[in-house]
Amino acid sequence: MNAMLTNALMHAVRNGVKDSRAQSALNRLLPKLESFWEVENVSQQEADEIQMRIVQHWDDLFGYLVHLYGDQWDFFYHLEQILHTIIRGWRMRPEPLKQDDENRINNPEWYQSEKLVGGALYVDLFSENLGELRKQIPYFQDLGLSYLHLMPLFAVRPGNNDGGYAISNYRSVDPRVGTIDDLRLLADDLREAGILLVLDFVFNHTADDHYWAQQAQSGNEEYQKYYFIFPDREVPDQYERTLREIFPTVRRGNFTWHDGMQQWVWTTFNSFQWDLNYRNPEVFRAMLSEMLFIANTGVDLLRLDAVAFIWKQMGTNCENLPEAHTLIRAFNSCVRIAAPGLVFKSEAIVHPDDVVRYISHKECQTSYNPTLMALMWESLATRDTKLLRRSLARRHKLPERTTWVNYLRCHDDIGWTFDDADAAAVGIEAFGHRQFLNAFYTGQFEGSFARGVPFQHNPDNGDMRISGTLASLAGLEQAIEAESDDLKELAIRRILLLNAMMLSVGGIPLVYLGEEWGALNDYDFVKDPAKAGDTRWVHRPKMQWKFLDELGDDGSIRGRIYRSIRKLIAIRKMTPAFGGLDMELLVLESPHLLGYVRQHEGNRVIVVANFCEHSQEIDSNRLRTAGMGRFFEDLYSGQTITTSHPLTLGPYEFMWLHRV
Ligand code: GLC
Ligand code: GLC
Repeated sequence: MNAMLTNALMHAVRNGVKDSRAQSALNRLLPKLESFWEVENVSQQEADEIQMRIVQHWDDLFGYLVHLYGDQWDFFYHLEQILHTIIRGWRMRPEPLKQDDENRINNPEWYQSEKLVGGALYVDLFSENLGELRKQIPYFQDLGLSYLHLMPLFAVRPGNNDGGYAISNYRSVDPRVGTIDDLRLLADDLREAGILLVLDFVFNHTADDHYWAQQAQSGNEEYQKYYFIFPDREVPDQYERTLREIFPTVRRGNFTWHDGMQQWVWTTFNSFQWDLNYRNPEVFRAMLSEMLFIANTGVDLLRLDAVAFIWKQMGTNCENLPEAHTLIRAFNSCVRIAAPGLVFKSEAIVHPDDVVRYISHKECQTSYNPTLMALMWESLATRDTKLLRRSLARRHKLPERTTWVNYLRCHDDIGWTFDDADAAAVGIEAFGHRQFLNAFYTGQFEGSFARGVPFQHNPDNGDMRISGTLASLAGLEQAIEAESDDLKELAIRRILLLNAMMLSVGGIPLVYLGEEWGALNDYDFVKDPAKAGDTRWVHRPKMQWKFLDELGDDGSIRGRIYRSIRKLIAIRKMTPAFGGLDMELLVLESPHLLGYVRQHEGNRVIVVANFCEHSQEIDSNRLRTAGMGRFFEDLYSGQTITTSHPLTLGPYEFMWLHRV
């Protein structure tokens, strides 16, 4: 290798790597790569590029790995293995993805654009298989999507597989939906259509029939160390004292007895989902390798599943521990080297203070916004936006180069994860309020419009979450049954109100497909024994393509919802004020109203929304000062608004006001 360039590299190491231990580790590791470049026929220029990236991220990566594994006697061996895994991942990366990597390094804020609008779907339920899905790209384009999340589609165990979250092989696609090559073809087509691909990285657990788990079951000690396996109840009982139960109706506690091994296995979720043990650096390396394989199929954004649970420590609740963050940061720095165009999305459905701790450009650049989701539903039930406002005022802002993923419904349940102190500050007693919300959304509260179904009711502490589609929770199912045009009208308005907020508040909006035309609950899931025990299937209906015929039809409810949401999406994408996250609340008199100013690169839009079925007035002076103008256009209706008299918002009405 050219000595000059090697000198340049060594210079970079000396000047770019601050930690002296990190520097000497790299000084030992880099020369050993020379033979790899030669055997693999890597050009000088390519080798320099990747080595420069290694240098650039080495302090971080080394520091995280020392934090996690530095006390292990064979640390240096693992460090070297991890570096090799990164380089192999980079080496296998297809050329077009490497070009995207370059573009994104030069435009690091690409995921904060107003042009991003997401959709999520199950391939089998939406279009049977990946081949058919490729034919649906025009549908996504018509709706205006630029981001598509395919729910887990990897090979799964037979029978119940938790909606794809019990993976038996990360390198092959469930044969019922296609092959890895089909996935790559779809990724190519999506890229061509300007639509980002999002997949899951289910890394807290594997299925009980993954190769590693099978090896563990057959007594291979090497692989038993991949999981948490105990001969008797002694240690599990000690852990159990401080653990929460996530799926209490599946099984009490967090451990499952395995008959074959005659041992207990840690299973936070279903009994067939075995938690991985990241105290073992080999697990980190092995999962890194799986992750880079998935990334290289053409993924732009990777959804990190169940991040809260990935590190366990006796005596704690084993959620959101500091090492969980270090672990994700370590994965992130590997990605910055091997696949720098890839961005993470955190799935932490936990207390809002814990949700934000995953969000950083060094950890997860994007995150689900479960608090906003829950509080939009809360405001809809109470017709009062005070808790939503309190939360938006204090919790919307995020660190630089990060953003929210906002959603109304996803494939999971709704949990009331707001902060009790936030609630108390606006005069709400949290425990009783959650009971009320559960009663309201299961339709048991007098006057409720919602038709939700309980999920994971825990009789010991009264905890419960809610399943149901957007439309059923917003009143459409009840209205259709009551054959009431008035109720239907209100339900449609609620659906559009929530969408208007999700699309404007700041962050990437994410539609669970079916929502865009008002899919109702599907109670038929109980007929499938693999689904019957999990009410989340009520809001994962099969796509009814025959409904599409109605979507252009003005008179139909589905057509109206679809065309309204499509219009909102189109406006969002043309309105630069909706980029970024900058959002300032307006102080409005009525407790039923919500108002905020969105601002981005000198563009401003005022959003006002009425969360109740009675008209509300807004003092136009507020608009004049907030919007710095006297005349506004509602971008949605096209109507002109003057500030010479108060503005009236009808039942559940919203406006996106732009100065004219
Ligand atoms: C995530 C998924 C959920 C699944 C769980 C276990 O939270 O969203 O559907 O049940 O992880 O993988
Ligand atoms: C819990 C977990 C979350 C998961 C959900 C599934 O809320 O925190 O990760 O998605 O359960 O219901």
